[in-house]
Amino acid sequence: MPANRKAQRPPSPSGGALASIDDVGVSYEGIITDVPTRPTGLYVRVRNMVKHFNTAKGLFRAVDGVDVDIEPSTIVALLGPSGSGKTTLLRLIAGLEQPTGGSIYFDDTDATNLSVQDRQIGFVFQSYALFNHKTVAENIKFGLEVRKLKGDHDKRVQDLLALVQLQGLGDRYPRQLSGGQRQRIALARALASNPRLLLLDEPFGALDAVVRKQLRAGLKEIVRSVGVTTIIVTHDQEEAFDLADKVVVFNRGLVEQQGSPTEIIKRPRTPFIMKFVGETNVVPATSLLAKRMRFATSKSNVMFRPHDIRLFKSPPADDNGVLTIGANVANKANLGWIIKYTLRFDDDVECELQLTRDQDEREYSLVVGSRVFVHVNPRSMMGFNQSDVDSTPLV
Ligand SMILES: Nc1ncnc2c1ncn2[C@@H]1O[C@H](COP(=O)(O)OP(=O)(O)OP(=O)(O)O)[C@@H](O)[C@H]1O
Ligand SMILES: [Mg+2]
Repeated sequence: MPANRKAQRPPSPSGGALASIDDVGVSYEGIITDVPTRPTGLYVRVRNMVKHFNTAKGLFRAVDGVDVDIEPSTIVALLGPSGSGKTTLLRLIAGLEQPTGGSIYFDDTDATNLSVQDRQIGFVFQSYALFNHKTVAENIKFGLEVRKLKGDHDKRVQDLLALVQLQGLGDRYPRQLSGGQRQRIALARALASNPRLLLLDEPFGALDAVVRKQLRAGLKEIVRSVGVTTIIVTHDQEEAFDLADKVVVFNRGLVEQQGSPTEIIKRPRTPFIMKFVGETNVVPATSLLAKRMRFATSKSNVMFRPHDIRLFKSPPADDNGVLTIGANVANKANLGWIIKYTLRFDDDVECELQLTRDQDEREYSLVVGSRVFVHVNPRSMMGFNQSDVDSTPLV
């Protein structure tokens, strides 16, 4: 796709940035000239990106050599523990931080040294305050004025309000809106200038779970309909896996794994990913369970997913080759549709098992104190040392 774009792009004295504006149906003055019919999103490639901060304690490696490809018009989620470098990478892409090393390409253009204004980016941050003394419409208009875009601003504001489904609220002030409505206005403002890249840093972080879910669905629809390439930073794994075409998991300033949500969930490449994404049981490598399942590792611990446990009420017949080990049901927690059991093996090592309420009622109906037999396929086990899953930022 970038090759195509390049062929259609008129020569521009100032490099690729202005040319790409024309590419999406916006004239050089920024007047929206037609509705774009092809994907308008920017193709972002981050190469060996490094950002070190000078601190009182010395150099701090916030981003330490990151490569990420963000395909045009896709949604990419940056996921990772606190301090792992997500916001820093977003700010580097936005041009709000200068990299210590590495390059950023927008389509075929080296954008590493482009000014913030020339990057054609829309932002929404977690607590990105709207201007309280401006009405909703004026706030959105600001998104147009700041880029000195010409054209019918009032019409554009109405279109954007419709896009975020807040028609009729243009005359209100931010204090007269709910938190969720405010973030939708922030989104409308970010989209006002038809950016080719939308950066969202925990945009729903301050909102409750129900509102988050509604906004998530809305955001997905909006960015798909506009075709803007979108990078969203989130702590919320459900949000990342639901929204994104690609999830990039950060740890200590590095990308630990990137791939489709299915890849990350089903094929975690490192112990850190296994532990960070989804639920895990951890047992010592010397435990009865690990030994009985013949899981060989030089590492000190073993982890596996609760749903990889196969449960039997009595030991299966020897000849079917399924190795099992006995355990007692130590606790039962009723979580609504899910029942969580704690199983205690004879060496006092414990693990958790989750069953749906249906499954529990139909197949097991376990009670605390009952004896069960457990099998875990060693292929779904992963050996690790504590240092493999450590996530404290690197100083
Ligand atoms: N200007 C700065 N000077 C020094 N250190 C910084 C600066 N900005 C960020 N850092 C450090 O870089 C690391 C990465 O910060 P960043 O904000 O990118 O983390 P994050 O992954 O977004 O975390 P969170 O999920 O908590 O928002 C942190 O340990 C932070 O303290
Ligand atoms: Mg952050």
